[in-house]
This record gives sequence, C-alpha cells and structure tokens, in this order.
Amino acid sequence: EKGGWSSFMRKEVAEQPEAVQKTILGRAVDGKVVIPELEAFGDDRLRDIHRITVVACGTASYAGLVAKYAIEQWARIPVEVELSHEFRYREPVLDEHTLVVSISQSGETMDTLMAVKYAREQGAKAISICNTQGATIPRESDAVVYTHAGPEVAVASTKAFVAQITALYLFGLHLARVRGTLDDAALAENLAELQAIPEKLEAVLGESDGVAQLAHWMADTRSVLFLGRHVGYPIALEGALKLKELAYIHAEGFAAGELKHGPIALIEPGQPVFVVVPSPRGSQNLHPKVVSNIQEIRARGARVIAIAEEGDAAVLPFADEVVRIPLAAPLFEPLLAVVPLQVFAMELAEAKGLDVDQPRNLAKSVTVE
Ligand code: F6R
Repeated sequence: EKGGWSSFMRKEVAEQPEAVQKTILGRAVDGKVVIPELEAFGDDRLRDIHRITVVACGTASYAGLVAKYAIEQWARIPVEVELSHEFRYREPVLDEHTLVVSISQSGETMDTLMAVKYAREQGAKAISICNTQGATIPRESDAVVYTHAGPEVAVASTKAFVAQITALYLFGLHLARVRGTLDDAALAENLAELQAIPEKLEAVLGESDGVAQLAHWMADTRSVLFLGRHVGYPIALEGALKLKELAYIHAEGFAAGELKHGPIALIEPGQPVFVVVPSPRGSQNLHPKVVSNIQEIRARGARVIAIAEEGDAAVLPFADEVVRIPLAAPLFEPLLAVVPLQVFAMELAEAKGLDVDQPRNLAKSVTVE
C-alpha cells in the first residue's frame, strides 16, 4: 500500500499537490466556485448568517485558524475558532444565525461530534469539512464539503491539512459571492491563486533536501521554537505540533508579535527558532516587523531558520538558514510554508530512528473523550 515509499507519512506528504487539486476538482467553473453539496443548504441561509464558529481539534483547528483570516477578509463575517472540547463545556452563545463549521479528517473525533450535536440542539446550523465519506460528523451536520485528500494512514495529519485549508478557502469564496462581498474579478483572482497551489507545492517538495539535511544535523536538539504572524501564526503552531508528535521534541509556536510579552525570555545562545516570514508584498506591511523580530532573537543568540518567499533578500543578513517558498498571494502562503515544517519533523524523527507513521501514545482517530 505504501507503493515504494518508506513510510505512509512520506507518501502522504508527497501527495499534497494532488490532495489540493482533487479538492478543487469540479468546484471551479469559469472563475467561480461551485459547491454542489451546499445547494440543498441554500444560499439564503448563507446570507442569513451573522457569524461562524469553527470547531475542531489539533491540526484541523489550525486549518480553521488559517481560514479565519481568509473568510473574514473575503466574506466579512466574524469567524471564531474553538477547540471542540473547550466549546462544548462552556455555554457558548448560539442561535439560528450562527453557522458552526466543523473540521475533521476522520469525521469521528468524539469532541467535535459532540460540539456539532450541541450546536444544532441550540438552533445553530452546521456544515462539516470532512475527509471520510459517510463518517459520523457529516451525518450529524446540515451539509458537508468533503476534502478529497484520499485516505490518510499516518497518524500525523499532512495532506488532510492542506486539503482542509483548500476546502475552507473554496467555502470562503463561495460565501463571498453569495453575500456579494467580492466582485467577479476578485473571486476569479483568488480562485486562480488556489488553482496554482498544486504546482507550487511540487516545487516546494522538490526543494526538500536542504530541510532534510538540516533535520539530520539537528537530531540532538531538545527544544525548537516557531514564530509566525497573520496566516503564518497557525503554521507556527502546526510546525510545533508536528515536531512534538513525531520527534518527541519540546516545541512551541508563538505569534511573532507576542515575543516581547514573554517568549523572548526563552531565547538563549543556540536556541533554534523557525520563523515563517510574511511576504514583503503583503498589504499589511508585516514583513519588516517580522524581520525586526528576527534581528531581536538573533541578537540574543538564536539560531534562525527563516521560511521566506523567493527573492526576499531582507532576511539574508540575519537568518542562519533560509528555506525558500514560491511566490503566492499572502493568504495562500500557509499552503506552501507548512511543507518544510512537516518535512523537518518527519526527517528529524527518522534521524532519531522513530516510527513516523505510528508515534507513541497517539491514535489516528480519537473517538473517546
Ligand atoms: C496531528 C493530528 C491531530 C488531528 C486531530 C483531529 O497531526 O493528526 O491533531 O488533527 O486529532 O483529528 P480529526 O481531523 O480526525 O478530527
């Protein structure tokens, strides 16, 4: 089943371009997003929503955090992202104008399932983003938008994550059209950006050797920090999670803007820090802020590994290593920037002789509380 690959994880990392492409397939028509599965749900109900609450766990919740930036920008609806197990044990404020979007690869995660059931009991509408046909969570939802990543066997989620972001972006563009918040040109432009991702992912995967080598050099590392900002922030969280679960290394992800509020105290000489650098072309001008974060931690001895877009020369004087990703519109960068972090965690785990498909203590699908 591994088809010549040494592990399922290696195979699934390599399948990411296809996972994105298949998730878009049939849903992009003449520059517009068409999601047949949402027809029965109805555009009127989508216009009637006042806010979106995303419920998910682990990596799926980080896909939700990435999508929050895009959906708010495109569809101008407030989006909150909640861990399913926190959501259902407080008394969340819900009504018929709340749309609960659950994200689950397996479609069986108990806490996410219970969150969806609870939300619907309170009158909210529920749409599920799921990778497994006919799973329980989609059955308990008003509608489902499937990710088409194919079966994910390795415990650590990789191709499902990029497929989740893809499906959520398609949903966000669909919402923006229905609600009239983006014009046809903007819709087509964003959709074209998404359609260009599979090819760019191939390019990122083709450049993985440098990251693999870095991981092998760093096999004795005891702690790694990850920084990101805007859509790069959830990617920092995901990079840290991958490293914890696969290589059993202490890792933390931070929003780069938080550095001065505490985490910078952790920086001591030799501390490895991955920094997901926003595009210098971004309209919010976050790039110089993150470059100055890099300078601050470098001055305290951090060993900086920057994930930066091609041609970004500003990081060169301050980073010990630069991993390049192809140019993409800023909202689409997470789909590319996550890959070197997945590869790093996988290679480091292998360098330590660990089983990357079946890390200790973890199960693929968490069907108990
Ligand atoms: C991390 C990982 C987990 C899952 C989480 C949710 O690599 O795989 O964090 O993302 O357990 O699982 P699903 O998506 O099946 O609900």
